[in-house]
Formats: sequence, C-alpha cells, structure tokens
Amino acid sequence: MKYLLAVGLAALSFMASASSTTPDEGMWMPIHLKKNEVKMKSLGLKLSSEDLYVVGKSSMKDAIVWFNGGCTGEIISSQGLVLTNHHCGYDAIATASTKEDNILDNGFWAKNNGQERPVKGMWVSVVVRMEDVTQAVLAKIKGVEEKQRGAKLQGIYKELTAEAIKGTHYEAQVREMYKGNEYYLFVFEKFTDIRLVGTPPQNVGKFGGDTDNWMWPRHTGDFSMFRIYTNAENKPAAYSTANKPYAPKHHLPVSVAGVKEGDFAMIMGFPGRTNRYEFSNGIKLAVEKVNPTIVSLRDSRLKSWKEVMDKSVSDRLLLSSDYASIANYWKYYIGQTEQLTRLKVYDQKKELEARFANFAKGNPEYDGLLEKVNKAYEAYSPYALQRTYLQEAIMAPSSAQLSIGFVTQAANFKTDADVKKMADGMKAGFEDILSTFFQSSDQKIVTQHLVKYFNAIPKEQHPALLATMMKKNKGKTDEESIEKYVAYLYAKSIFGDKAKFTAFTEKPSLKTLTKDPIFVHVSAFYNNYITNFKPKIDEFNAMNAQLGRAYIKGLREMQSDLVAYPDANSSLRLTYGSVQSYDPKDAVHYDFVTTLDGVMEKYVPGDSEFDLPAKLVELHGKKNYGQYAMADGRMPVAFITNNDITGGNSGSPVINGSGHLIGLAFDGNWEAMSGDIVFDKKYKRTINVDIRYVLFLIEKLGGATNIIAELNLVKDEPRFVQPIDEIKMSVPSPIAKPLPIKAGVKGATGKTTLEGAKMMDESTSKIKAKELAEKTAAKAVEVTGKEAMRPVMPVTEAVPVKREGE
Ligand code: ARG
Repeated sequence: MKYLLAVGLAALSFMASASSTTPDEGMWMPIHLKKNEVKMKSLGLKLSSEDLYVVGKSSMKDAIVWFNGGCTGEIISSQGLVLTNHHCGYDAIATASTKEDNILDNGFWAKNNGQERPVKGMWVSVVVRMEDVTQAVLAKIKGVEEKQRGAKLQGIYKELTAEAIKGTHYEAQVREMYKGNEYYLFVFEKFTDIRLVGTPPQNVGKFGGDTDNWMWPRHTGDFSMFRIYTNAENKPAAYSTANKPYAPKHHLPVSVAGVKEGDFAMIMGFPGRTNRYEFSNGIKLAVEKVNPTIVSLRDSRLKSWKEVMDKSVSDRLLLSSDYASIANYWKYYIGQTEQLTRLKVYDQKKELEARFANFAKGNPEYDGLLEKVNKAYEAYSPYALQRTYLQEAIMAPSSAQLSIGFVTQAANFKTDADVKKMADGMKAGFEDILSTFFQSSDQKIVTQHLVKYFNAIPKEQHPALLATMMKKNKGKTDEESIEKYVAYLYAKSIFGDKAKFTAFTEKPSLKTLTKDPIFVHVSAFYNNYITNFKPKIDEFNAMNAQLGRAYIKGLREMQSDLVAYPDANSSLRLTYGSVQSYDPKDAVHYDFVTTLDGVMEKYVPGDSEFDLPAKLVELHGKKNYGQYAMADGRMPVAFITNNDITGGNSGSPVINGSGHLIGLAFDGNWEAMSGDIVFDKKYKRTINVDIRYVLFLIEKLGGATNIIAELNLVKDEPRFVQPIDEIKMSVPSPIAKPLPIKAGVKGATGKTTLEGAKMMDESTSKIKAKELAEKTAAKAVEVTGKEAMRPVMPVTEAVPVKREGE
C-alpha cells in the first residue's frame, strides 16, 4: 500500500512536472528523456525513452548524424545512406556544378556506388555517448576570475575529452548548458569519406527561393542524399576507392503511411543556437540597431551579386552558394525583427525581469543583477555596431578576404621571404576566394558599405585614415568622396585585381605590401577595431556571460520548471509534439499540409525561383504518384508540426510514434521568426518536407529506383510491421574513380580559437584564406559562429565551439 502510494505520488508529480512546461516547447537532451516519457506517450509515442537514446545498445540516436557541422542528417539504409536538406548539400552540389555538368540546375542521381561523388572536406558525426560532467568542471573552475574563465575552461575540456577518448578513434567535446551552470561531454564517431548520392534539380530543391524562404505555406522539395564510407573494419577513414559503405548500428525505417493533423511527431537533431533567456536590453539593441544594420549591409552584397549572377550561367553557379547563405540570414533578421516587435518580446522579457527583481530582493546572490545588466549594456551600446560592421562590412568583400591574412600577420613580416611563405601556405584559400571575386561588384559593395559606415558610426569612432582619404579624393558630397576613394583603391591595389594579386603572390615584396592601398585601408579599420573597441566588447561579453549565467541560475531557483531545458548549442536534442495547423492572423487559417497542386499554382515558367522541371509538370498532369499519393489522390509536399527547432536542425528527421521517418525538417515559419529568443506556442511551427514527396521525386522524377530499393519502406501500423519493400543492396559495385568535389569552406569554422600570430601560424598551414577572413572577423567580435556565413547573432550568445554549413 505504502509502496503503491509512493509510486502513485511519484507518477503524479512526474506528470505534473512534465505538463507544467509548455507542452511542446523544448529542445530536450536525449540523456534526460525519461522525464518526458509520460508526456510523449500521451501524445502518441509508442516507444520508450531507451528506444530513442541508450548507450551500449543500438537506439534511434545511432541513425542521427551531425552533418558537416551545421546541419543534421539521418541514416536511412543499412548501407550508410544519409538524407539531409538540399540547402545543407547546396555548397557541395553547386561546387560540383559546371555549365557542362550542371547538377545544381538539372539534378543528379548516382545509379550505383561508382557514380557517387566524393565531397572533399565534408564530414558527419554520430554521437556515441554523452555524460554529465558538471561536477568535475565546476570543481575545477571554482574561484577562477571571469576573465580567465574561458581559457581555464578550454584546459578543463582538453583534459576531460582526452580522458574520454583514450584508446579509441573517437572525438569528444564538452558543451556548456544553461549558460555555464551545467556541462556535458559528448563523444562522437566522425566519418570523413562522404559522397554525394543524389539531388533534385534546384528548381525543386529550392523551389520558392528567397521569396518563400522562412514561410508557410511552402512547396519546396528540400532534400539531398549522401553516403558514408568506411574502411574494411567499418571505421572512419579518409577517402579511398577501397572504402565501403558504412553499416550503421541503426537506420530509420521510412514510412509511406503519411501524416494527419494531431499525429505525434518528434525531431532529433543538432539545433545550433537559441538564447531564450536573453535580457530585454539585448532585444532592444537587436531590434533598434544590430538587425537593421545586418539587413542593410547584406542588401548591398546581395543586389550586387545578383547583377553578376543574372549575366552568366557559370558566374551564377560560382556565386550561388554564397548568395543562398547570405540571403538566408538576411531574411532571417528581417523576420526576427518584425516578430520580436509584433509579439512584444521586449515587454515579455521586461515582465520576467520584474518578477526576477522581486524574487531577488534581499538575496545577495541576485539583488542588483539587473542593474548591472543595464550598466553593462549602457557602456557597450555605443560600440555595438562596430562589431557588426567589422563582420558584415569590413571583412566581407573579396578584397578584404584576400588581404586580411597579410594584415593580421604584418607585424611578423621581416623579409619578402616571410610574405612569400605565408602566401604559399594560403594558396588554396586564395584560389577559392578568387573564384568568386568579381572586381566591379566587389568595388560597388565596398563603396556602399563604407557610405553606410560613414553615416551610421560616429565620426570619433572612425579610423583617422577615412577622413584623410576622403579629403584626398574630394567629391561634391561625402558619398562621392567615398566613391572616388574606393575607385582609387581598386585601381591601385594588388587586392583589387585578380591578375595583380596573382602576380604579387608569385613574387611578393614586403615594400609593395605595406604601401598597398587596400592593405592600408583594411589595416586601418581592423586595427581601429582591435585597439579601440575590442577591449570594451570583450569586457561586455565577459560581464554579459557572467550575469546571464547568474540570471538563469536565479530563474531556476525562482521557479524550478521555468528553465526546463538548456538553450540550443549544436548538441544532440529531441523535440516532440504533433502535426498541427495554425491561424497566422485574424480570420486566416493555414492547413497543415501542402500539395503538388499548390506547387503548380506557384509555377512561373522561366522564373528564377518558381520554375519547374518539365517532367514534374508532366507527372502532375498524369497524376503519376505511385504509392506516394494521399488517400484523396493528391501528392503531399510539405507539412507542419509544432516542434521546437532552430538552424542546425536543418535536415533533421521527423519521426512518428513508431520510430519511422515521415519527413525532413527544413525551416521555421515567418510568424515565429523570433523563435530563437522566445518560443511562441500559438505561432511556432516547423516546416517539413513530406517523406512521400521525397520518395516520389527520387523514383518518378529522378528515376533512381536503386535508391528506393535500398530503403526499408513501411506502412506504420502496427508498430513492428515487416518492411513491405525491403530489398537489400547487393555488394557495392567496384568503385570507379569518381571526380572529387569539395565541401563548402563556409561549412567549417574550426574549433580553434585564433588570434594574431597564433592564428597565422595555423592559417599558413591548414586554414584556407576565406575561412580565415571569416574566423578573423568572428574571433575579433568574440563569436565563433556555428554558422560561418551567419552573422554575429545579436541577441544570441556565442557558442564556444565551431560550426556551420548553410
Ligand atoms: N531557411 C532555411 C534554413 O535556415 C534555409 C532555406 C534555404 N533556402 C533559401 N532560399 N536560401 O534552414
């Protein structure tokens, strides 16, 4: 009796705690899912939490991969076949495309293993295990001053990870949770022989383009496929023709049963960054200053690139990937600003802060915390745009990317040979930058950025050089002076002209370098930042991190379930909820599903965003949908769920209650673009491509029946139904030597924190110049972005790791 009562009470409190959190909000850590089990089962999960994550036996997590650092993928066959978004494979696909072999525009399907295309630099990781190391970390960090905390933590991480992977081929990372109130260790198996298996044409994979991006209703077939290869022992190995497809511990069965409103849906993946407990001050700064600046600066870049892209197919292919990345977060910041305002997020944060202030009264640990926050922001705000301009303007153009290595290294150059050594080490990176360097467009971008800088940044914050050069190049207006100055830069500098740059790197001269006008220009802005603003910004960052950590700790003490899950930080998470429609505004209802009929409604022949392959139009005409149609005969395309995801979840599997794949998450919706800051239950939705559309496109549009045959297709009910269509692939055919293609440099910002000479030591050997430029900017503003092409998240804190893959 006693026992039963105890169990009953425990169950009750369990349910209470599970349901007192907003039901569908949360990016839960797989290691803690037991506490969500009751809730998940009530929503329709037929599995146990151990079926989702367990160490030692196979579980769902073994089929989930961290895809190239910035996306998620899932393994869907016993032969290591990986499904992810088209926009996650975009850089690999665009880089592999030429006018003659244009797989970006035409699509591509390998008919056998030999036709698959290795992607240089691409990797995926599977989580082997995770562990709470909070006690170990906190014990070692005790008493350490805030300014030393970062460096100290790096040392602790090093020890813990080394210990965790001793004697294995694994990799490990420690991640901070709750802004440093908890720490977790993650062990990964990282695979580096990854090959492109297939992609739809981009007018399917990116249908709707930037017009539809971040919006529902959506009609995009946003998927692409890769395969993991290993050595003969099924272990990670560098690319080799002798490698074989990976045999995973688990692969997801693929459901052709479809979804209906209210169905259980969960998503496992690697959400990048959220900042759900940002202070109201951060919201204000983002909405009023930082976001509009990012949008405006990117606007210049995008318009200028578009002019180039519209003139030539081969130039378009070269710029496509950069364009898509920049455009993606350009629109993100427009949407975030709009929704932060519409949903009155500042007021929401203020309210929470008022509650906190009340709770903090008389408690020495928390009393006065918000006043300190105000003070820190007051000191920082006048300089906040400096970091935005550095990353989004000063470092952004190709000429700056070509020069930044020389700029940061300048102090170490003694002879021409020193310059030569560095230039030689960066050769591959330079080639990469030069491949997308269009002089007149670059010049236009620098001019516009500089005009914006001149008008937005107080004169006393400018480097002295700017006024001097404007006087020397005097025009009728300030704008004209800037235009003349930039024209002079590009006419005279080795960094403003491909041929001059190449000639210089072949025979560098220190004297030429130090007198070069773009070198002088970039140095002036960079050094101005490093000397005059970085110290202030560093101080703010340290203060903000410390106060943010205390705030979260306090909030958890104030109301134990208020902060029920940690912010996203590119570690493995699970979100669960259901298929759910919504009402975006008064009198408007959005259904949960879109169809191929809707694709046809948007079809504009010849348009850059809404064109379609003739064959798809034909398939629609004939209603040739095979087994993939809905019960009413229509072809499903996308559906929405109320899952809690963010960037980095791109490509994540949407899984039903039986553990079967029903879709692929690929976007968030406009009405909840503030979702990284606050989860709005009424509006927040995840946009998923329906797996039946994926299968239809592979089979009917791509003709890749070999892929369909490799999958484990299931009708869902009952739970352990036998595959209806499982055909094991025969031993892979002998592998012809395929053309290597390379993964995006955007895809990788390294783990290393780099600065000054130390940075250059590495860069001369390993790091490509373009990455270096991004890293330099990122490091300078103290953000090691997970999404390299993604700007500093103004209202989102830095993640002390690396990232991207847009
Ligand atoms: N918004 C999507 C995401 O961040 C990416 C969509 C890519 N498409 C585009 N038109 N840029 O996951």
